[in-house]
Parts: sequence; C-alpha cells; structure tokens
Amino acid sequence: MNSLPHQQQRVLSGMRPTGALHLGHYHGVLKNWLKLQHEYQCYFFVADWHALTTHYDEVQMLEEHVWDMVIDWLAAGVNPGSATLFIQSQVPEHAELHLLLSMMTPLGWLERVPSYKDQQEKLKEKDLATYGFLGYPLLQSADILIYRAGMVPVGEDQVAHVELTREVARRFNHLYGREPGFEAKAEEAITKMGKKNAKLYNQLRKKYQEQGDESALETARALLNDQQNIALGDKERLFGFLEGGGRVILPEPEALLTPASKMPGLDGQKMSKSYKNTIALREDPKDIDQKLRTMPTDPARVRKTDPGDPAKCPVWSLHQVYTSDEVRLEVSEGCRAGSIGCLDCKRPLIEAVLTELEPIRERAREYEKDRGLVRNIIHEGSDKARDVARQTLEEVRAAMGLSYE
Ligand code: TRP
Ligand code: SF4
Repeated sequence: MNSLPHQQQRVLSGMRPTGALHLGHYHGVLKNWLKLQHEYQCYFFVADWHALTTHYDEVQMLEEHVWDMVIDWLAAGVNPGSATLFIQSQVPEHAELHLLLSMMTPLGWLERVPSYKDQQEKLKEKDLATYGFLGYPLLQSADILIYRAGMVPVGEDQVAHVELTREVARRFNHLYGREPGFEAKAEEAITKMGKKNAKLYNQLRKKYQEQGDESALETARALLNDQQNIALGDKERLFGFLEGGGRVILPEPEALLTPASKMPGLDGQKMSKSYKNTIALREDPKDIDQKLRTMPTDPARVRKTDPGDPAKCPVWSLHQVYTSDEVRLEVSEGCRAGSIGCLDCKRPLIEAVLTELEPIRERAREYEKDRGLVRNIIHEGSDKARDVARQTLEEVRAAMGLSYE
C-alpha cells in the first residue's frame, strides 16, 4: 500500500537545455524517465531559466538548444501521452513561487549549497557573483514545490538541492500552515470522512502520537489518500494534524537517485560534451562508425598478434553496455591471446550502437519535419502544468495573506 498523499505520486524532473543529447543522457537520465512515465504521473521540463543562471551572456543558441533537446526526448521515447512536457519559462508561476519563497529563505542556506562555490570555481571564466546564480537552487525548489511533487529523479550532484527543497517546504509549512483555529478546523474536517473513517483516523493518530507507531501513521495517510469527499485544504489539515503540525501546504519531496550512467565516452572518461567524446543520438551513422573505428584501444596492441588487456581498453567498457556475455567472453579471450584484431572486437559494438540509434534517429527526423507538432506538444504540456501550478500558487498566496478576495 502506498502511504503518500496522492499528489506525492507525482514525479518531477528538469533538464537544462544543452542542445542535442548524446548516449550518456540516453543511458542515464532518459531510460530512467521512460520507465517512470509508465509508473507515475510525470512532469518533465526544460529548465531554460536555469540555463540563464550560468549562461546569461550566451542567449543566441538558447532557443535552438531547447527545441533540439525536446526533439531528442520525444525521439528517445518520452511519451507526451503519459508524461507532461513543458518549458519552465512558459509556466511563469514558478517565478512567483520563487519570489515568495525567497522572502523566508535564509541567505545562509543558499550560500551553503555545495554547488554554489563549486560551480563558481569550475566556471571561472564567468562572473557568477550574481543574484540569479545564488538563488538558483531556490528556483529549483519552486520548480518542485509548485507541483507538490513527491519524487524528484536527479543525479548525485543535485541531491543537495532536493534536500534544500525539503527544508524550505518545512519552514514554509511551519510559518504559514498554522492558521488561526487550526485544531477546530481539523476536528471539523475529521467528521467529513464519515463516522467509521473518522473513528479509525482518530485511533491511528492517537497510536502514532502516543506510541510513535510509524505503521499507524502510514495507514492513516493511506486512509486520507482514499478520501474522495474532502476538499484539498481539509486533506492538508488532516495530514498535518496527524503528525501534530499545521497544514501541509507544500509537501516535502524525496530525491530519487538516478544511478550514474555506465556509458563511457569515446576516450574512456565519462561521456560529456565538454570532453568532446560523445556520440549524439541523432549523429550520422557514417560518423558513428568512424568514431568507433578510430576509438583508442589498449596501447600495447600495435599489431593484431600483440596480446592485450581489456581492462586497459575503453572499448571494453562499451561492451559492458552493449554486448552479451558470449560476445564478451569471445572478444576478451581473443584480445588476451592476440588472436583477434581490435576492429573485430569493435564490430559487434558498432552494430549494436547503430541498431539502438536507428529508430531514435528515424523518429527525430519525423519531429524535425513537423516542428508544429513539437510546439503543440509543448504548448499543451505547458497549459496542463500551469493548471496545477496555479492551484498551488492560490493556496500559497492565501496562506501568506495575499488572496484579496
Ligand atoms: N538543476 C538541474 C540540473 O542542473 C535541473 C533542474 C532544474 C531540476 N529544476 C529542477 C531537476 C527540478 C529536478 C527538479 O540538472
Ligand atoms: Fe580493446 Fe577489444 Fe582491442 Fe582488446 S581487442 S584492446 S578489448 S578493442
């Protein structure tokens, strides 16, 4: 049984628009998205404002990068029928929530985020002593909280940002979830569940609060999830009341750690655009063939008869991703014995990469031809995202005394 409130079944993730994606993205992030889109209500967006926090002085290519990335998502199989796809700046509600959260976020929390100093060091050629750059993890918090997402698939480097988001949500609920007459409102909400459920809720709450019984808490949350007849505001009260707090207006998300991609680059380092060792998803098959053929191997193998060691060869890491146990056994033996050439070893690999990319390239071509379709997908996604975002924002405004009704 799942005990998270229903909105927390929502998965949200964003990607900076870096332009055309490569096999590293595919084997890391994208395949994970493909799986999640069938299991949860997914929201995937292009973080174009995030790109501006570091690349504010290079906006010429931004739009092209955005569309290229969206086309690659679609070509890889991200399905707009299952997942909501949108562009961050098309949902300006993110910015309003960011502003409101900025009022109550201590400066120290942002200065202490590890990526703040790290990135400033790494991108030395840029002046990142900007307001936007300092605030960027909080913008990410707004991205997440505006959808009340329960799960946020991210890489290791982003976990600290989800952690910050949890702290921000907790502080927000603490400051603004304690409305006047909270207890009375919660008691009133309990009665709306019907006699039987109300009794059960009270018993479970007592069990949790008096005996710290976690399973009672879980059961009570599941019970709340199943209530069709109570309004969202009341549900938030009842979730909060269970734990002895106020209303949970912004639920705390969990990071869903994406395992690091095992996809090595052409030089054996991690595949990354900045190392110039990538194979792009839409790359020409002839170029892929050429890149793989000329990929470096164990330097000990000058002639075909020189014995080699797969452990010293970047091609071997590619075999781990693409070929079967049998093929791997065959080539590793042949390599050690000096009985196969490196090109023989690479052949099944080249075949596998080309086979994997063919349908992706084919689908990308369709989308390249029909830009209108891509734009529609994003417009529809942005509209759908806005509906959810507006609801959250209305509650946030009201909780902060800004509803003016
Ligand atoms: N900061 C993320 C990155 O650089 C992208 C991102 C922006 C994101 N907002 C998000 C990821 C919200 C997850 C959830 O990769
Ligand atoms: Fe690398 Fe294969 Fe050549 Fe051995 S045979 S060095 S594993 S490419």
